[in-house]
Amino acid sequence: MYDIVIISGSPSSESRSQSVLKYIGNILKNKGLSVGHISVRDVPAEDLMFGNFNSPEVNDIAENIKNAKGVIVGSPVYKAAYSGVLKSLFDILPQDAFKDTPVLPVMSGGSISHLLALEYALKPLISTLKGTTLKGVYYLDSQVDKTSDSPIQEAELIQRTETQIEDLLEKMDLEKSFS
Ligand SMILES: Cc1cc2nc3c(=O)[nH]c(=O)nc-3n(C[C@H](O)[C@H](O)[C@H](O)COP(=O)(O)O)c2cc1C
Repeated sequence: MYDIVIISGSPSSESRSQSVLKYIGNILKNKGLSVGHISVRDVPAEDLMFGNFNSPEVNDIAENIKNAKGVIVGSPVYKAAYSGVLKSLFDILPQDAFKDTPVLPVMSGGSISHLLALEYALKPLISTLKGTTLKGVYYLDSQVDKTSDSPIQEAELIQRTETQIEDLLEKMDLEKSFS
């Protein structure tokens, strides 16, 4: 079980959003937290396609989320929303999967025009599963080098990312003090 579970919603093998998630995960590990990485690519396609609520892999993911103090959800923007396959996974998670858990949303997109996919698509989805959403970060493709361990270079964007990480850690501490 992990302090923080990171969920990648990209179906791509070389994924920009996932490179950012790995970068964030490394920052958290360097702070001494245990971090588990989950990808939609690790869930059997048939379970996602046919909505298999008894999928052992999905039950395992749900258990990891339940025991985590914080969650980070990342997705590419697809047609002005999150990826369909992320929704397929969330459809078969328990309806209160993120209950009492702060969730940091992260998206990468080709266009700044779809920045609001974070507000109008991903955040409501997280709220539906009873997560407490943080502000989140949107990354433009032009700002992410998916081939590098340090995929973002712009100082202001690094700062925004770190601020969101600090916010997540703060919220996790709050949750802990009530549990
Ligand atoms: C099927 C598909 C649909 C996309 N739709 C949008 C879109 O509506 N708006 C946008 O800004 N970018 C869109 N993009 C670009 C991706 O959001 C962008 O390249 C993203 O960083 C990919 O993330 P990934 O590498 O983690 O999968 C789309 C890409 C694909 C493959």
